[in-house]
Amino acid sequence: MSNLKKILLEKVSCKSIWFMRQAGRYLPEFRKIRSKNTNFIELCLNSELSSLITLQPIDRFDLDSAIIFSDILIVPHALGQKVNFIKDYGPELGPFDLEVFLNIKEKDFLKSLSPVYKAIEITRRKLSKEKSLICFIGAPWTLLIYMLDHKKKDVNTILNYPNINSIINKLIKFLNIHIENQINAGADVVQVFDSWAGLLPEKELETFCIKPNLSIIEFCKQKKIPNICFPKGIKKNYEKFNNIVRPDGLSIDYNIEPEWARAKLLDTVIQGGMNPDLLLKKDDEMFQAAAKYLKAFKRNPYIFNLGHGLLPETDPDKVKKLIKFYRNFNE
Ligand code: CP3
Repeated sequence: MSNLKKILLEKVSCKSIWFMRQAGRYLPEFRKIRSKNTNFIELCLNSELSSLITLQPIDRFDLDSAIIFSDILIVPHALGQKVNFIKDYGPELGPFDLEVFLNIKEKDFLKSLSPVYKAIEITRRKLSKEKSLICFIGAPWTLLIYMLDHKKKDVNTILNYPNINSIINKLIKFLNIHIENQINAGADVVQVFDSWAGLLPEKELETFCIKPNLSIIEFCKQKKIPNICFPKGIKKNYEKFNNIVRPDGLSIDYNIEPEWARAKLLDTVIQGGMNPDLLLKKDDEMFQAAAKYLKAFKRNPYIFNLGHGLLPETDPDKVKKLIKFYRNFNE
């Protein structure tokens, strides 16, 4: 069993390190492939290249887990919405068509996503048995931000959207299908990204973030799928989220103090926290920040990661140094 699974399932303390966005633009070998593949969604759906990109950081660094190269927006794409990635800007989705969305059948959804499952199969065969292969989804709220109003990110547009409940229910159903198929293909842990949870007003957090995450985590538990939630930006509501959703692991963002997390986020395994900006600073400052997390969690099971993804301007050499520091840390 991988260290990541041991920590999540048996709550033991052992070393485990991976990074969100470990495969991506900060790696020259990724940029080389990307420059020849200008359509990002097509790249995500190229099983051979997706597998190759997934393994790039594993070949380069001493990491414990790979995360499959794909995107959270592959799901809206498979649910019939146009998804474009614009250079130096990010994702832009076409108009949302409720009719089309509600009528997409499971069979067609799975057909669109079959290259992701094939990429997972290929990667699992190539990855050492001691390493986890992490799959992921975007939580409904975060997907809705892109699907319904990505330009303004006006929360009220989404909260008051007609038929919002049936949209969320369809998303939950199909996200669970996507998780199960990724696991059947050979992934062994799932991470649920709710990157825009912090935009929600407190009184709406339960309906739009906590409940949908809970449905997904209950599904994972029923299927015995090790799971990690990342409800980014919800500040002290991490405590409420944890008490209700009870995921195996909880990824904290860089606004959460590690000591606070250890005291308040009980019966869960904490992951990450350190600000990715610190990899742009001098070595000492980066090591000191990492040590703060390692000291806070020295008696608790803890998965080393960051408080958000690695930034495109990160020097890969810095990543190597941070991993070495983590491996040698023994206080
Ligand atoms: O290495 C990994 O972490 C696995 C691959 C992965 C990608 N996206 C590849 C990617 C993962 C786990 C994601 C998740 C994702 N995608 C999230 C949740 C995590 C987070 O960052 O908050 C979100 C919100 C998205 C949506 C998305 N995809 C945005 C906003 C962007 C553009 C801006 C950015 O952050 O890069 C993407 C593009 C994207 N997804 C790239 C990669 C490697 C960059 C593509 C490029 O331009 O070359």
